Amino acid sequence: MYPRLLFLSTLSFSIFSTDMLYVTRAQISSAMGVNLSFQEKHVVMSNGIVEITLSYPEGHVTSIQYNGLNNLLEVLNDETNRGYWDVVWSPPESNGTKGTLERLAGTSCETIVETADQVEISFSRTWDTSLYGKLVPLKIDKRYILLRGSSGFYTYAIYEYLEEWPSFKLDNTRVAFKLRKDKFHYMANSDDRQRDMPLPDDRLSGRGEVLAYPEAVLLVNPVESQFTGQVDDKYQYAVELKDLRVHGWICMDPPVGFWQITPSNEFRVGGPIKSELNSHVGPTTLAVFASTHYGGSDLVIKFDESEAWKKVFGPIFIYLNTVTGEEDPRTLWDDAKHQMTSEVESWPYDFVASDDFQTRHQRGSVSGRLLVQDRFVNTDECIPASGAYVGLAPPGDVGSWQRECKKYQFWTEANEEGYFSIPNILTDEYNLYAWVPGFIGDYKNSTIINITSGVNIDMGDLVYEPPRNGPTLWEIGFPDRSAAEFYIPDPNPKYSNSFLLKDPNRFRQYGLWDRYTDLYPDDDLVYTLGESDYTQDFFFAHVLRKTSNDTYVKTTWTIKFNLSDVNESENYTLRLALASAHQSDLQVRVNNLSEVPLFSTGKFGGDNAIARHGIHGLYWLLNIEVPGINLYARSENLIYLTQVKNESRFQGVMYDYIRLEAPQTSIMSINF
Ligand SMILES: *[C@@H]1O[C@H](CO)[C@@H](O)[C@H](O)[C@H]1NC(C)=O
Ligand SMILES: *[C@@H]1O[C@H](CO)[C@@H](O)[C@H](O)[C@H]1NC(C)=O
Ligand SMILES: *[C@@H]1O[C@H](CO)[C@@H](O)[C@H](O)[C@H]1NC(C)=O
Ligand SMILES: *[C@@H]1O[C@H](CO)[C@@H](O)[C@H](O)[C@H]1NC(C)=O
Ligand SMILES: *[C@@H]1O[C@H](CO)[C@@H](O)[C@H](O)[C@H]1NC(C)=O
Ligand SMILES: *[C@@H]1O[C@H](CO)[C@@H](O)[C@H](O)[C@H]1NC(C)=O
Ligand SMILES: *[C@@H]1O[C@H](CO)[C@@H](O)[C@H](O)[C@H]1NC(C)=O
Ligand SMILES: *[C@@H]1O[C@H](CO)[C@@H](O)[C@H](O)[C@H]1NC(C)=O
Ligand SMILES: *[C@@H]1O[C@H](CO)[C@@H](O)[C@H](O)[C@H]1NC(C)=O
Ligand SMILES: *[C@@H]1O[C@H](CO)[C@@H](O)[C@H](O)[C@H]1NC(C)=O
Repeated sequence: MYPRLLFLSTLSFSIFSTDMLYVTRAQISSAMGVNLSFQEKHVVMSNGIVEITLSYPEGHVTSIQYNGLNNLLEVLNDETNRGYWDVVWSPPESNGTKGTLERLAGTSCETIVETADQVEISFSRTWDTSLYGKLVPLKIDKRYILLRGSSGFYTYAIYEYLEEWPSFKLDNTRVAFKLRKDKFHYMANSDDRQRDMPLPDDRLSGRGEVLAYPEAVLLVNPVESQFTGQVDDKYQYAVELKDLRVHGWICMDPPVGFWQITPSNEFRVGGPIKSELNSHVGPTTLAVFASTHYGGSDLVIKFDESEAWKKVFGPIFIYLNTVTGEEDPRTLWDDAKHQMTSEVESWPYDFVASDDFQTRHQRGSVSGRLLVQDRFVNTDECIPASGAYVGLAPPGDVGSWQRECKKYQFWTEANEEGYFSIPNILTDEYNLYAWVPGFIGDYKNSTIINITSGVNIDMGDLVYEPPRNGPTLWEIGFPDRSAAEFYIPDPNPKYSNSFLLKDPNRFRQYGLWDRYTDLYPDDDLVYTLGESDYTQDFFFAHVLRKTSNDTYVKTTWTIKFNLSDVNESENYTLRLALASAHQSDLQVRVNNLSEVPLFSTGKFGGDNAIARHGIHGLYWLLNIEVPGINLYARSENLIYLTQVKNESRFQGVMYDYIRLEAPQTSIMSINF
């Protein structure tokens, strides 16, 4: 296995042939082997490239030595506050998404592997009733791995809950690294979002002013004046999990990149488009394994005493790199992306010592082809589900994967012909789920898929029939679970961050919720089919209006359309696909705003995507029967959409796509 790793690193070095010193280092270090040494209060792992110091027996990372820097971690912080695993947990009766923060500390330390090629060390603790209410009722085993010749280290953890332990809720779990603020100033979270960053000091009172919630701070007097007038908010850097594979920080002098690489999403929760935090002012780098971000309390993991549970989070890789000579240290991002690719190709890692981590040959795979049959669009023919998201997740209801947070999920994207292949699936029972950009709804195959070691299941052709009652009379937007195609306003100049001005992340500017009031100070949005353009005339979020006395009031959007003919004895179908909902009540009325609503959601949603600068949270599909008797053939029709909940400015929904379907039996057309 080591020759393969060396081959991969040689490969990435040959792409970056300027990095000759680095090759030399790797070669020297592969001759050197890995050392492990125990001191009174610390354990040190080194391989000639990096040296990692861990507190003993807690297992917090207290120091990372690399490229002449004694410690990349914040030496001003206490040793427990530099590199650590933590959880937020709460008693079962609690509501919401906030609980007790606990840094997971080992009480015993064990060497699992110690050879010249590899060291793996475990820091663990168990739980008993004497710890009731004090520590999260989980057995914890945190692992750190250092390989010969590797420019970084791996960490993973095994959490276990035993039957009859007290019920509780797990809100959040992650690994956090806090880097030296005097060294790491440049942050890269994606190709689009990378920049020089403000200091943590700039967020403090006197330098920063807290905006609508504590995470958002206006920098009024930052240490470096270039940041004056910017907003700092870690949620502006959120990334969808499918794209969140590598992120981190660059120190310019000496040139050092610190990167967190996540080679697989199998242990993350909520599916491929759940958005998550990554790196932010601190300088902080997070690997978040489970959280309620952009999902809300549905994504709190609930444990009750009748069940046993065990899960492996990770391994993730902490990768360190450098450049030589005059090369721009910012190119370290490109090298980190190449390293990420090679980590992904090496998944599942064959050097992980825990039996709880299945090797490649212990896993199974699934393949097949997904087709779509959307009646009234492609009448009899099936078309390939090009670019579909296809995944295996625990058996559940249609679409349940987006709230699933306890087990493992395995997702891929189908190719242009709809073919998909999902490798390296852990042994267990699953359902196959999918959704297809361009079509509403969710596919689920109700056959239980039993993954056993070495199995390769070919599902053959699967056909998704999206919800459809009749031909489309009109539609607004594009069904893809995001509101990105709608009108995204420029921010208030007072809160504008220049790094977000260019596409595709404009929606991450602070305070866009109040731009609705600026655009529609008195009357609400009216969308006229045949005249309006949804990229310009359809605001990306259905938010509240701010009044002169700083209260927020409900808003009603109107959709205007004409029909050439109406069959009064039939139902029409209004499809409201939502990309997000936060503590809203969405009401639908047709042609009479004074009537009781034809449809009302009741209070629903909690993904907080409006406040967190998201373009979507969780997906909802509302199917509403509109009796023909409520529609007019000879005069204009009005559909009213009212969001009535107004306790806070962040309540509202985002639409993904809206469609009106004619009854199945009739052939009718829209008349503009
Ligand atoms: C490991 O320890 C040996 C003996 O102390 C030493 O010769 C060698 O250089 C060390 N290797 C590393 C990578 O520190
Ligand atoms: C949590 O919510 C439930 C249901 O709304 C309620 O009965 C319960 O009292 C709440 N618990 C707390 C601690 O607020
Ligand atoms: C799945 O396979 C396991 C192991 O062979 C077996 O115990 C289990 O009953 C199977 N489940 C189903 C639903 O076939
Ligand atoms: C579910 O999968 C099975 C096995 O491949 C297939 O026979 C069946 O047609 C699928 N069902 C649907 C609704 O696609
Ligand atoms: C604030 O304005 C709203 C809407 O104009 C109004 O309903 C409300 O009564 C006002 N509240 C106060 C305290 O003036
Ligand atoms: C909600 O709206 C009503 C008017 O519709 C207003 O009187 C009330 O003050 C608003 N509530 C908040 C918290 O702004
Ligand atoms: C509906 O038709 C009427 C009468 O022709 C016209 O005035 C109105 O603009 C049309 N509305 C829409 C939404 O097309
Ligand atoms: C129209 O929809 C309503 C509500 O779902 C239902 O009760 C009614 O039977 C439907 N009518 C027809 C003609 O399908
Ligand atoms: C609208 O509904 C209200 C309440 O049911 C009713 O009084 C009114 O006559 C309706 N208006 C029209 C134009 O039908
Ligand atoms: C209206 O719907 C009824 C019931 O489905 C059907 O019998 C009738 O032919 C339809 N009328 C038209 C004009 O399509």
